[in-house]
Amino acid sequence: MPFIIAIDGPAASGKGTIARALARHFGFHHLDTGLLYRATGALGGDAVAAARGLSPADLQGEGLRSAEAGQAASRIAAIPEVRAALVEFQHRFAAQEPGAVLDGRDIGTVICPDAAVKLYVVASDEVRAERRAAELGADPAEMLAQLRERDLRDSQRATAPLRPADDAVVLDTSRLSIDEAVARAIAEVARVRGG
Ligand code: DC
Repeated sequence: MPFIIAIDGPAASGKGTIARALARHFGFHHLDTGLLYRATGALGGDAVAAARGLSPADLQGEGLRSAEAGQAASRIAAIPEVRAALVEFQHRFAAQEPGAVLDGRDIGTVICPDAAVKLYVVASDEVRAERRAAELGADPAEMLAQLRERDLRDSQRATAPLRPADDAVVLDTSRLSIDEAVARAIAEVARVRGG
């Protein structure tokens, strides 16, 4: 049985950085599931058809990390048929030995409810806006408004909304360096694995 680590949380909380570091540390596969929604949104046209026809090459598309691509992703992610079309890819990815780390919004609640470790990564709105602004070279106030709009949409949609699984461990990275946040995540996984 592969060891599955589910990492969820709002935009720019640090979950992607933590997911990548955990995968490297434990030798697991890593999937940034936000990319699936970003690539679907970027294809344009009918979002359901785009999600159904998504290919791995689409995930390499230019500009997928932009704030605009994030907003478009958040909008099409509210469509239940889009989410349904992306489930199988995520399940297949999670089934790889020796283990997989998936990060997103609904990994611990919907995609991998039986994950061995579930982390819900949070940070204050201001810290997240500063981080995203530095990453994209954008205005922090503008980023703050965009993040809040996106989080509201992601957490209030009817299908697979952003929320911690009941058995998730909450990790607040507001006052932690990247190394500290990663160390805590590694410690949690090690605790569950028993070493
Ligand atoms: O993690 P991200 O910022 O790349 O995600 C972009 C958008 O995709 C996010 O605002 C909502 C959607 N998303 C989702 O609904 N479910 C996921 N598992 C991952 C992302």
